[in-house]
Amino acid sequence: MADETKGYETGIVVETAEGAELPGDALVVAENVHKSFGRLEVLKGIDLEVKRGEVMCIVGPSGSGKSTFLRCVNHLEKLSAGRLWVNGELMGYRQKRGRLYELRDSEIAAQRSDIGMVFQRFNLFPHLTVLGNVIEAPIQVKRVPRAQATERALELLDRVGLPDKANAYPEQLSGGQQQRVAIARALAMEPSLMLFDEPTSALDPELVGEVLDVMRDLARGGMTMVVVTHEMGFAREVGDSLVFMDDGVVVERGLPAEVLSNPQHERTQAFLSKVL
Ligand SMILES: Nc1ncnc2c1ncn2[C@@H]1O[C@H](COP(=O)(O)OP(=O)(O)OP(=O)(O)O)[C@@H](O)[C@H]1O
Ligand SMILES: [Mg+2]
Repeated sequence: MADETKGYETGIVVETAEGAELPGDALVVAENVHKSFGRLEVLKGIDLEVKRGEVMCIVGPSGSGKSTFLRCVNHLEKLSAGRLWVNGELMGYRQKRGRLYELRDSEIAAQRSDIGMVFQRFNLFPHLTVLGNVIEAPIQVKRVPRAQATERALELLDRVGLPDKANAYPEQLSGGQQQRVAIARALAMEPSLMLFDEPTSALDPELVGEVLDVMRDLARGGMTMVVVTHEMGFAREVGDSLVFMDDGVVVERGLPAEVLSNPQHERTQAFLSKVL
């Protein structure tokens, strides 16, 4: 029906039959994901699956498309071709008679509310307290009553090791503390998936550990996570899988310990020899 969509076609013609089966235990499925900015092709056909409870770490050189891929997962970027599912839903589009139609903004926002994203820069609201930052989206987006949102937020602040910072403002916190608030804020929406884009790379070295500890705890609790990181120790210890991306493609994927100690591709070897 026309009123279900924005009413325009993306022009993407998909080859697979409508209602094609998704792998049962995958929370994220990327199928031949392409993304171009003008004439620059940044993602050149990414196929990846993230199972429920899996922690996938993505590494690769600057400009290889890691951030762009994460942004495609929660539809901050429109795909140029391919398809992407999260939790069984086709992200950003409705598929009808072999064509994709972009969803309305409100529908995209609803899909996105199931996905937590933590960036390199913490992006907290500077005019809100820590508590205000954490309860904002549950109240505004999910219509959770304030008292309930506050109770949950205090639990989350406890979990990220900041039980006494609820009334502080972001500028009064260290970078590591701000990043832990950003994680609590994302968790407050009770997402099924957490995306991290280099969450520790803007931090002073002595603050990296406290953020990785929170992420490790989250992984142990069974959260499905996709983590773009340069922290190879974290990838080895916490990651269930390691993906090496270069120049818009997945070059290599495997168990972190295996990829890190015995990379199969020359490009992976060259990259790891520089960062390890
Ligand atoms: N909005 C945009 N418009 C045009 N080009 C873009 C845009 N976003 C990203 N790019 C380009 O896409 C390529 C991949 O960028 P991306 O940020 O995904 O790389 P990355 O692997 O995350 O790198 P880094 O490790 O430096 O964060 C780069 O060449 C970048 O300049
Ligand atoms: Mg990036």
